[in-house]
Amino acid sequence: MTKYIVKGGTPLFGEVEISGAKNAAVAIIPAALLVDGVCRIENIPQISDVSLCLNILEQLGAGVRSVNGHTVEIDCRRIRATRTPYDLARRIRASTYFIGALLGRFGQAEVALPGGCNFGGVRPIDQHVKGFTAMGAKVTVESGFIRAAAKTGRLHSASVYLDVVSVGATMNIMMAAVMAEGNTVIENAAKEPHVVDLANFLNSMGANIRGAGTDTIKIRGVDRLTGGSYAIIPDQIEAGTYMAAVAAAGGQVLIKNIIPKHMDCITAKLQECGVEVEEHEDTLLVRRTEPLRKTNIKTLPYPGFPTDMQPQITTVLSLAQGISLVTESVWGNRYRYVDELRRMGANIQVDDKTAIVEGVDHLSGAPIQACDLRAGAALVIAALAAQGQSEISCVHYIERGYENIVTKLRALGANIRAIEVPEDREELGLG
Ligand code: EPU
Repeated sequence: MTKYIVKGGTPLFGEVEISGAKNAAVAIIPAALLVDGVCRIENIPQISDVSLCLNILEQLGAGVRSVNGHTVEIDCRRIRATRTPYDLARRIRASTYFIGALLGRFGQAEVALPGGCNFGGVRPIDQHVKGFTAMGAKVTVESGFIRAAAKTGRLHSASVYLDVVSVGATMNIMMAAVMAEGNTVIENAAKEPHVVDLANFLNSMGANIRGAGTDTIKIRGVDRLTGGSYAIIPDQIEAGTYMAAVAAAGGQVLIKNIIPKHMDCITAKLQECGVEVEEHEDTLLVRRTEPLRKTNIKTLPYPGFPTDMQPQITTVLSLAQGISLVTESVWGNRYRYVDELRRMGANIQVDDKTAIVEGVDHLSGAPIQACDLRAGAALVIAALAAQGQSEISCVHYIERGYENIVTKLRALGANIRAIEVPEDREELGLG
């Protein structure tokens, strides 16, 4: 098991290149199942969630060829299996996308109930099921698997109104619908950049999807998707995490390979805190020289402030002058990391969905443990800003979604290194 050792208090300087978007990649890879040809996918991030998705595809019978570290060619033409391997699929939330993709291609799917980050409760998929059912599928849960089958062998079109704005349901229904008979409409759809990226990928392979990025997505079923080449968008949350790291630790960093529009919701809030952000064509220059100021934040579906940046921004605010209020309105409980920040001296009270963050002068290094991906990123930020040394355990969560985070931070002058510790010692917190 790996731990990160971080000696904090060093401002960050230099340039960091942002990788492809995790939440686009983990949908686009399963979507390759729908393609009757070879698809070449570029700008794939090298993270463990992506390796798992590629592994599931291979186990289903796909040809997966790595062209270089960030480009793969996927050939799903010979696949006949419709059941994903239990142990791989249950480890990752994004395995739900295999349901939409397998249903769309074969009219049936069997996928293990998914895992992924646990925000203190069940992560429901009722809206995915609502969509599949409206399109003529019967969906059941048996022996740990979700089983879905089109009653007539092929899905038909439907009009689906989502009761909650769900990224996963929007993408899953989109995949199921690309080759269904007729015109499917998704109302109250999610508008995240990765939703648009999936639609663009499918369209580049021959699908007919309009309206992605708005509340209403219209999908006209086509007979076949052919192969092609597609490059995944940059990761909005990875970029936001490095921006937050500069805000907390100070310094000046050029964030490269981003789409500035996707960053607006994060940029605006950091500017309110006194962080300078200069926007260029595909880069942002982030500088923090002044003390941080308080602000209030509420997480919302895109284009609102992303829940996946909530732990990182709360960490920044724990060092800002005054009292900030952070309201989490997407997930029921995403504050489990706060206990770890308190060990470092943060003054944060959580009352249901709101964190009351009273800024402190400084944080101090401590042994701390990541409890999920973004919580882990927040702890790295806290450790970079803190005085003294921190030891971060359970970093496998962080490596699910951040490519080479240690190398990228070291290039910015951070004093961070990864060490291997025996598994049992880490579990006991002794490593
Ligand atoms: N929801 C339902 N029913 C559903 C689906 C969702 O009630 O059928 C609720 C959820 O409980 C939640 C809200 O709707 O309260 C939003 O959930 P959504 O479906 O949008 O989340 P997701 O698709 O499971 C993706 C990302 C998450 C990110 C959320 C919100 C992936 C693989 N995961 O999850 O990313 O937090 O959207 O933006 O795309 C992360 O990257 O760290 C991460 C957790």
